[in-house]
Amino acid sequence: MLPAISLGLWHNFGSVDDYSEAERMILHAFDRGITHFDLANNYGPVPGSAETNFGRILRDNLSAHRDELFLSSKAGHQMWEGPYGDGSSRKNLMASIDQSLRRTGLEYFDVFYSHRYDGVTPIEETMQALIDIVRQGKALYVGISKYPPEKQRLAYKILRDAHVPCLLSQYKYNLQVRYPESRIIPAAAEEGSGFVAFSPLNQGLLTDKYFSGTIPAGSRAARPEGFLQPAHVTAHVVASAKRLNEIAKRRGQSLSQMALAWLLRDQRVTSVIVGARSVAQLDSSLSALNNLKFSADELTAIDNMTSSFLQQSPKTPE
Ligand SMILES: NC(=O)c1ccc[n+]([C@@H]2O[C@H](COP(=O)([O-])OP(=O)(O)OC[C@H]3O[C@@H](n4cnc5c(N)ncnc54)[C@H](OP(=O)(O)O)[C@@H]3O)[C@@H](O)[C@H]2O)c1
Repeated sequence: MLPAISLGLWHNFGSVDDYSEAERMILHAFDRGITHFDLANNYGPVPGSAETNFGRILRDNLSAHRDELFLSSKAGHQMWEGPYGDGSSRKNLMASIDQSLRRTGLEYFDVFYSHRYDGVTPIEETMQALIDIVRQGKALYVGISKYPPEKQRLAYKILRDAHVPCLLSQYKYNLQVRYPESRIIPAAAEEGSGFVAFSPLNQGLLTDKYFSGTIPAGSRAARPEGFLQPAHVTAHVVASAKRLNEIAKRRGQSLSQMALAWLLRDQRVTSVIVGARSVAQLDSSLSALNNLKFSADELTAIDNMTSSFLQQSPKTPE
């Protein structure tokens, strides 16, 4: 029961960003049927400030609508100094959820995720922390993000055995990042976990903004705090985006709209979490919902154009 398009607050909602535009985006999103907002303890910058800002927007505008909202947060990436401020230990998750609840002013999250498999903490420990978070009433459901396939199945099993099934599995998935197709999405579907795609526009690479060969001012790649760096804007990804854009044009969509529609054509994809820097970008993304159907020829052409990305599978999902 998530909206097809959800809004994520990783970038553009921190203390370095325009608060008024952040507030407008959240309220506009809600007015347009986006009930699911995706947070994490470290979103900002500064880390934590996206949760603080969201809490303020909620208190000022939406407190009467809490039960209409589905709010997620996560813990697992570097947040505070020392060994307990990072990773997937019980210590980190338990402290993090309390911090996130304080920052947002929420009584509970709808979903709380383990943000990543850290390769060190026994998975039983991380899952037990998630189970206890639900039992303590701090979250209604739990999820995992970026777990490698063999750990993904184990996480599902541990959670299911404790009667706290894994509601959502969140992974990077878009036309240029295809690794979830082979094992991750089938496993989620088989085991009854919803699949949520993040960075569906590959952080803006699946738009026309980098087509001229320069990095536009204000774009994510131009911002020092942006996770997308100029080095990621390679000739290969831009050339592939340009080719995909030809198909999008024939469908009467922008490339970004086709990128979202392409993800949503798969019934196993529960929701895609978009990022947005403005209300206009958000509206443009929502218009993707006007055309979600693809012909077999279009899908084949898209697969041919993106075949180089099918081979790329990170050892640990990023
Ligand atoms: N679980 C995890 O580890 C994880 C990791 C990453 C993200 N996430 C979640 O996924 C969410 C989305 O990630 P993301 O921000 O990378 O998503 P994205 O949708 O792939 O990228 C968003 C960026 O694309 C550009 N954009 C968006 N709509 C556009 C439009 N209509 N026209 C032109 N450009 C447009 C903007 O870039 P410019 O600013 O350049 O204009 C925007 O900042 C995050 O907020 C977070 O909630 C989760």
